[in-house]
Amino acid sequence: MAENLLEVKGLKKYFKSGSVIDFKKGKDWYEKLYLKAVDDVSFSIEKGSTLGLVGESGCGKTTVGRCILRLYRADEGEILYNGKDIARIPISADKTYTKKIQMIFQDPYASLDPRCTIADIIGEGLKVHGLCRSRAEQEERICELLEMVGLNREHRNRFPHEFSGGQRQRVGIARALSVNPEFIVCDEAISALDVSIQAQIINLLMRLQREMGLTYLFIAHDLSMVRHISDRTAVMYLGTIVEIGPTEEVYLNPLHPYTKGLLASVPAADPDYEKNREKSGLTGEISSPINPKPGCRFADRCPMAKEICRQEMPPLKDRGQGHMAACHML
Ligand SMILES: Nc1ncnc2c1ncn2[C@@H]1O[C@H](COP(=O)(O)OP(=O)(O)OP(=O)(O)O)[C@@H](O)[C@H]1O
Ligand SMILES: [Mg+2]
Repeated sequence: MAENLLEVKGLKKYFKSGSVIDFKKGKDWYEKLYLKAVDDVSFSIEKGSTLGLVGESGCGKTTVGRCILRLYRADEGEILYNGKDIARIPISADKTYTKKIQMIFQDPYASLDPRCTIADIIGEGLKVHGLCRSRAEQEERICELLEMVGLNREHRNRFPHEFSGGQRQRVGIARALSVNPEFIVCDEAISALDVSIQAQIINLLMRLQREMGLTYLFIAHDLSMVRHISDRTAVMYLGTIVEIGPTEEVYLNPLHPYTKGLLASVPAADPDYEKNREKSGLTGEISSPINPKPGCRFADRCPMAKEICRQEMPPLKDRGQGHMAACHML
């Protein structure tokens, strides 16, 4: 079995969200409010593989990514990178991991500085980490990176606004690759693009993974693209992972009622099938992540919920072949 490059254990990230005072319970009674963005999340990613992370808006996907990049300090838990816990090493104290772990952002329009040329944007990481000995070497490396992502060397003196969305995302990928990373968090890296361009970027990411042995955490709403690129898929709901397993297992044999609902709301490519199939998509609103009620977070929307679901949080249990789901009713 391949070894894990990343192992996240019991990760928690809470945001303070004020407090409520209740005078009926005494003048000193108050409750602190916490927005539990990530609440006891664990998963691992094997070297050279991709974990897809899906779930509705606000469930905590980006927060997980930002904790791994150490843009947020984890409140609890471990983030083991090659076996070393990096969760609470400040970025300023250690440049090795900022180099090894990179991020590709959702919005290729907003993530590139409009005043900088493509060469400045890609060259920044090279400069910060002192990766080139001379200007000529840096220039050559920038050209090499542009060619790696399917752009050409003449593009280096242009500005971001001169490029299409797909091309800008290629620049974002070249920038991430410039520092020779091992692990890349792709946070909704293709969501803002047209479907045909999405496929091109996915293929590019998969080719780069094969050639450079990269490991990805691929965050997305779009379940179909995640299926294509991910070896394993994790489904998040309100700060917790409700199901995780080999991608084909999760797609063909979903166990958790939330995963079933998510899959049912993906439109099918075949219009006849789409017209006739049972629509059992999700209903109801996501509840608030602020001081969530005890029990399963999905209980309020779950068609199968029983009394125990409102009292006890179901543990994530292995249901065979590494396919895990957190549900009392399985
Ligand atoms: N810096 C912050 N301060 C306070 N609350 C935050 C902060 N960042 C995120 N949150 C909250 O944490 C929760 C999770 O946010 P997050 O951005 O991780 O969700 P997401 O799954 O990435 O959503 P989306 O799919 O919309 O990108 C949300 O309720 C959000 O409002
Ligand atoms: Mg997000």
